[in-house]
Amino acid sequence: MLNINYSDLPSFQKQLLSAAEEVMEKAYNPYSGFFVGAALLSTDGTIIQGANVENAAYGSSICAERSAILAANAKGYRTFNNLAIIARGSDFDTTEVTAPCGSCRQMLYEASQITGNDLEIILSTTKKDKIIITSINELLPLAFGPLDIGIDVEKYK
Ligand code: THU
Repeated sequence: MLNINYSDLPSFQKQLLSAAEEVMEKAYNPYSGFFVGAALLSTDGTIIQGANVENAAYGSSICAERSAILAANAKGYRTFNNLAIIARGSDFDTTEVTAPCGSCRQMLYEASQITGNDLEIILSTTKKDKIIITSINELLPLAFGPLDIGIDVEKYK
């Protein structure tokens, strides 16, 4: 886990964070009022965005990270090297980074095993005044994934 200043990020990570920031505003969040944006960078360099989409049956809501994975799948992308996540409240800026929930970590781990690489994850506060770089292996140690049940991941790339 690495704390880094925004100005020290390489340009591709700044771009990925901007894509997450842009889609954050598309959150459908009538219940929490919390806006989350996620942007995946596919192994071929394409950026795919996702925002949280809530539901009156609260448990049916979906987070920005899984929303991005589903959007990517629909476009034919299943392999990723990087993910950026940013969030804001309805009337406040976050002062700590927003990290993926347990369900999202599990789905991100699946994507990382399909990819064949650890997934780098950039977490940012609303104002980008605190940025942490971590990875799915760090956020979900000793994880369970498709390789553990003998899935031929090459077929699903
Ligand atoms: N949420 C995300 O989209 N991603 C996260 O990393 C944390 C939580 C969403 C789910 C819900 O719509 C709202 O934030 C409040 O939990």
